[in-house]
Amino acid sequence: MRRKTVVVAAAIVSLVASLAFTFGCKNGGGSQNGPGGSGGGNQTGEIVIGHYASMTGDTAHFGQDTDKAVRLAVEEVNAQGGIKGRRVKLVTLDTRGDATEAANAVTRLIDVEHVSAIIGEVASTLSLAGGRVAQRRGIPMVSPSSTNPAVTAIGNNVFRVCFIDPFQGTVMAKFARENLRLTKVAIIKDVRSDYSIGLAENFRRAFTQRGGQVVAEQSYSAGDTDFSAQLTAIRDSGAEAIFVPGYYGEVGAIAVTKQRLGINVPLLGGDGWDAPDLFRIGGAALEGSFYSNHFAPDAASDRARRFISAFQRRFGSEPTGLGALGYDAAMVLFEAMRRAQSVTPATIREGLTATRNFEGVTGRITINAQRDADKSAVVLRIRGGRAVYETTVQP
Ligand code: PHE
Repeated sequence: MRRKTVVVAAAIVSLVASLAFTFGCKNGGGSQNGPGGSGGGNQTGEIVIGHYASMTGDTAHFGQDTDKAVRLAVEEVNAQGGIKGRRVKLVTLDTRGDATEAANAVTRLIDVEHVSAIIGEVASTLSLAGGRVAQRRGIPMVSPSSTNPAVTAIGNNVFRVCFIDPFQGTVMAKFARENLRLTKVAIIKDVRSDYSIGLAENFRRAFTQRGGQVVAEQSYSAGDTDFSAQLTAIRDSGAEAIFVPGYYGEVGAIAVTKQRLGINVPLLGGDGWDAPDLFRIGGAALEGSFYSNHFAPDAASDRARRFISAFQRRFGSEPTGLGALGYDAAMVLFEAMRRAQSVTPATIREGLTATRNFEGVTGRITINAQRDADKSAVVLRIRGGRAVYETTVQP
């Protein structure tokens, strides 16, 4: 009975949400503010910021962990009196991991919620969809964790507080060649993800430049559950490791299939692995694998340790790299607002552009000329069902 009520309630919520999306979409056609515009956002009262994120769907960990951390940052800044005496209000909209929903969410944040700035998305494909809307409407957007170079190349309103995939691909290629001394690897990538396609390409280039060989390249599509054909092809290729630049759900399933097929080589991957569900799905099949990431909780700075305990106190779980980057995105945004005389989208954009040596929980953040952050990466090793810090790689 209780269950039924919950299900019905959930259905109503999702119906209302989709109506709201439709409404936002209908009203979002106009483009009042070009890239140079200073419109958007209230000039007095609360400062409203938007967050669009995969709160549900296959990558729900990305949205949920990020949103908790952004919320924590907002609560902290409000506890300190807000920004220029104004409270910060956070509005979060669910993208469900879908690009059309992401674009609609950004439209709605601007048209209905009148946000001054936007945080989001995690997945590069969704940041590309949402970022184009933010750019067209002249509202600054900070992606915490999208690593595909094309995201900030959209235009002068789109920023990020993380490194990009040409670097991340090089990190793992170098690690595979120099630390693991591998010469032959296979790649299996998600052809529905700009992140996965780009990171596969960047890894391939860096690995072959260093004298390595990619002996097989296979594809899948997000949502697939059967990877046996691809892994059978890889088994017969002589690969000493398999690079899997995907998201945690599919990566976990790929690990399980790899083990079932008796392929005894480690998997290598990137930040898209970063979720507790990776271990729940992949289990023992992941032992001895490695991935690059933005954050290693077991090698955290004092600043990061304070964040981890505040997050744990507030939400009862340890944050992943997503949370750490979400917190940094929000704090960099607040700092940009503080720097501005009055808080408008245009002055926030200038403030973001001027970000130098900001001490974040994921490291020191300087926004460069491409509106990206030059930062180091960590490599993590999976041991005993956990990701353990292995090494740090500088840009
Ligand atoms: N970098 C990934 C992308 O661009 C997103 C991601 C970041 C996922 C960090 C997990 C952790 O799609």
